[in-house]
Amino acid sequence: MSVVRFYRGEQIPLEMHKTRIVQKLNLIPVERRLAAITEAGNNTFLLKNRDVYLDLLTDSGVNAMSDRQLAAMMETDDSYAGSETYFKLEKKIQEIFGKKYFLPAHQGRACEHILAKAYVKPGSVVPMNYHFTTTKAHIVLQGGTIEEVLIDEGLKVTSDHPFKGDIDLDKLRRLFEQYGADRIPFVRMEAGTNLIGGQPFSLANLLAIRELCDEFGIMLVLDASLLADNLYFIKEREAEYQQRSIPEITRIIADCSDIIYFSARKLGCARGGGICTNNEEAYKAMRELVTLYEGFLTYGGMSVREIEALAVGLEETMDEDMISHAPQFIAYMVQELQKHGIPVVTPAGGLGCHLDAGRFVEHIPQSQYPAGALAAALYIASGVRGMERGTLSEAREPDGKEKYADMELVRLALPRRVFTLSQVKYTIDRILWLYDNRKLIEGLAFVEEPNVLRFFFGKLKPVSDWQSRLVAQFRQDFSNGL
Ligand SMILES: Cc1ncc(COP(=O)(O)O)c(C=O)c1O
Repeated sequence: MSVVRFYRGEQIPLEMHKTRIVQKLNLIPVERRLAAITEAGNNTFLLKNRDVYLDLLTDSGVNAMSDRQLAAMMETDDSYAGSETYFKLEKKIQEIFGKKYFLPAHQGRACEHILAKAYVKPGSVVPMNYHFTTTKAHIVLQGGTIEEVLIDEGLKVTSDHPFKGDIDLDKLRRLFEQYGADRIPFVRMEAGTNLIGGQPFSLANLLAIRELCDEFGIMLVLDASLLADNLYFIKEREAEYQQRSIPEITRIIADCSDIIYFSARKLGCARGGGICTNNEEAYKAMRELVTLYEGFLTYGGMSVREIEALAVGLEETMDEDMISHAPQFIAYMVQELQKHGIPVVTPAGGLGCHLDAGRFVEHIPQSQYPAGALAAALYIASGVRGMERGTLSEAREPDGKEKYADMELVRLALPRRVFTLSQVKYTIDRILWLYDNRKLIEGLAFVEEPNVLRFFFGKLKPVSDWQSRLVAQFRQDFSNGL
């Protein structure tokens, strides 16, 4: 993927692939969008896909597969135990990550479940650059706690720090000194840190963490779900590694990590997950949990077709053109929105463009879920489905008090190789309209609030009739309701 300059000046990201399979989309009028989001309890997770024009909810499981992946899916060896398909993937993992042992699982959170069951016990403390929703839930379910030791810059919504996903080494050392290896089973480093806007870590930081872990005898676990984006940013932004190839950078990262796990719904553009390591003891500790919770060791809950696709997808992730598509589209989106004064997370990260709801709708208090309200409003205004990544995505404190998120974001994910630049431009245009009408947006209140991972299926209602007023304004400005 390259960014090219047109003869007449504009700079745009240029796709290095072509589309040969398409899916029809629907753009329903604004009144039907209001009805759909109302029925969905103002939760974009609960919208029906047929009511969505552009699905920017996530990249998870919805990246476009390549012709080579589809071809690989035609030739599989399906068996409960010992399938050739599995050995192909195991070999690819060894080749890319240099890890001898591989455990398949049905998706990323299944890997987290297994890691937490194997290593976290009541009183355990797990330091990490930043939490991810499912990771934290699994650690807490085992009686552990998490400690975020992100650099302070990481939580600044607007910044020019190239690696906002870095760990603060002093904070980490203090935790090591306070709890020691007895209480700290591992440090978790997340690539392309999801909840702070898809922000990468630097290789210099990872190498320093490795040294610190060695000093205290503590394992380092890499969540590689968003590794593709992180690889792109290391090569782009870290001077020392600009001349190194993507496979070389990957291997340095892998060599720093005792255990690597990933969601293959993200990394490798398939559907599944896996854990790899060179540590035989760790492998044995987790192996029986895989057979108990996921499936036999040569499929782990994945279909053979997905395993074939994953082996090819991982190989394709080592290609710079492939991994630069999403970050360059996101950079374009961020740059265009910034030109018009729209508050967004900077620098542009991976995964998606993140609107800063904290400033976009600064009149909505955190107790009324500003990011959730903005995600619902954006759907009404455009048919574009984003994801709330703010207070709604947090769990309440044990005493029932709200835990206000560090950032109130609406994530507009750009799955790899899926959307076109005109669709991105449409999204930008409707965000601009919404920004001009932002004072119409008000908050949300829970109607049904689940106890665990409430953002997935909780239902909310608007605190007033603001959504009808938004629709009326939209009709006035776009007479066909589209
Ligand atoms: C960083 C990170 N870790 C773990 C997961 C969980 O993966 P899955 O959705 O496949 O369970 C995700 C999913 O979005 C993620 O972004």
